[in-house]
Amino acid sequence: MSERWPHGLVYAVVCRWGGVVVALGAMCGVAGAAAGGEPGSVADFPPVEALPASSELPDPLVMFGTGEAVRTAEAWYRKRRPQIVALVQHYMYGYLPEAPAVSAEVRRVDAAFLSGRATLREVTLSFGPPGTPPVDLLVIVPNGRQAAAPVFLGINFCGNHTVVDDPHVALPRSWVPERCRGAVENRATDEGRGAQAEAWCVDELIARGYALATFYCGDIDPDRPDFTDGVHPHFLRPGQTEPGPHDWGTIAAWAWGLHRAVDYLITCDDLDRRRICVVGHSRLGKTALLAGALDERIALVVPHQSGTGGMALSRGNQQETVARINTSFPHWFNDVFCQFNGCEELLPIDQHLLVCLVAPRPLLDTEGDQDLWANYEQALAALRGADAVYKLLGRRGLVASGVVRDDEPFTAENCGDIVQYRRDAPHVLNRDYWRRILDFADFQLGAPASAP
Ligand code: GCU
Repeated sequence: MSERWPHGLVYAVVCRWGGVVVALGAMCGVAGAAAGGEPGSVADFPPVEALPASSELPDPLVMFGTGEAVRTAEAWYRKRRPQIVALVQHYMYGYLPEAPAVSAEVRRVDAAFLSGRATLREVTLSFGPPGTPPVDLLVIVPNGRQAAAPVFLGINFCGNHTVVDDPHVALPRSWVPERCRGAVENRATDEGRGAQAEAWCVDELIARGYALATFYCGDIDPDRPDFTDGVHPHFLRPGQTEPGPHDWGTIAAWAWGLHRAVDYLITCDDLDRRRICVVGHSRLGKTALLAGALDERIALVVPHQSGTGGMALSRGNQQETVARINTSFPHWFNDVFCQFNGCEELLPIDQHLLVCLVAPRPLLDTEGDQDLWANYEQALAALRGADAVYKLLGRRGLVASGVVRDDEPFTAENCGDIVQYRRDAPHVLNRDYWRRILDFADFQLGAPASAP
């Protein structure tokens, strides 16, 4: 696991119970920093029309612009990694704003959740300029363990009340999609309680000694093509009425929201801050990948069936193309990314570079044989493209075929730091996947302390 921390990390405080607001302090993460620039500044990269075309994947160990080779871990961390951090924001996801101070208010604690096997708490995270909507974080921690629990952090699609079947979990305050069970005129209702419980399998995580932390994506930015709600309007620069071409899209905003949740999780005594794992399905898998790539406090990354804009390479993608995703979901990426519609070969990045940013930390790419849209072949190619960076950093990277299937256990022979796990399944997150995700976390980070 990485021992490196984002520069300038300042935090102090432990979790408190019972409605006490706790200021978590300012975090200065790597995310907003352009190459060599100040956090939040736009890097000095060429316009898209001046970029050289190449059907080959950009070499992670060659500097963009100068062509200089990166031969040492030191050069990777000092030069190439920060350059890629800037490139992926500049040309694709948009720049994440600097990390704000976050305060946490524990609104409700249920120490007898799951028949006493877990403690559920609902925490409101507030941050940013006045008026920025808060995030309601649901945290469920196993009871009776001898050590702080590792935690899976992931965003949910329809509200915290859908993750567990519980009559008290607060409904989202913001807009929800009509496709969410129980949504009436884009508002959540009690009807949706527990609707996504099978996707989260909280009982499985708790039984295995893992905690879960989750929040609704719409708390950060409702998933619709406008920037008038969520966090975006609160982070406009003077004179702006909407995000500029290099500013953050919705996926970047969601990833930034995950970082704010991490700001809180690392202050919790009952959670193991060295074992924070990030997970997400589909568009939220793209988000998990970006969040893990940009924040080295995250120990393990699981982009589940994340597809285009996630694990699947853009070059040569015959399923969802860059043009297609930018047309269907124009708010997910920044405006500059649209200039690569139909000309992916101009991209100075591709998705393998996101995996390189995760290095040397472990990453599990979970895919389904029936989920062709997510394109597991392109995701496997991204893992292959990242292998050299893991090796440069002294890790095993990808071993053997790079693929582990079905119920095959993860072993030193079939599983390095990065691996694709695949089973014969459609586009779904369910208990079968969770069992293997937890197996991977046990394998990479060590199994959690057992109950006494
Ligand atoms: C669409 C989209 C995918 C995305 C998926 C999802 O299918 O094309 O890119 O991953 O929605 O989030 O469910």
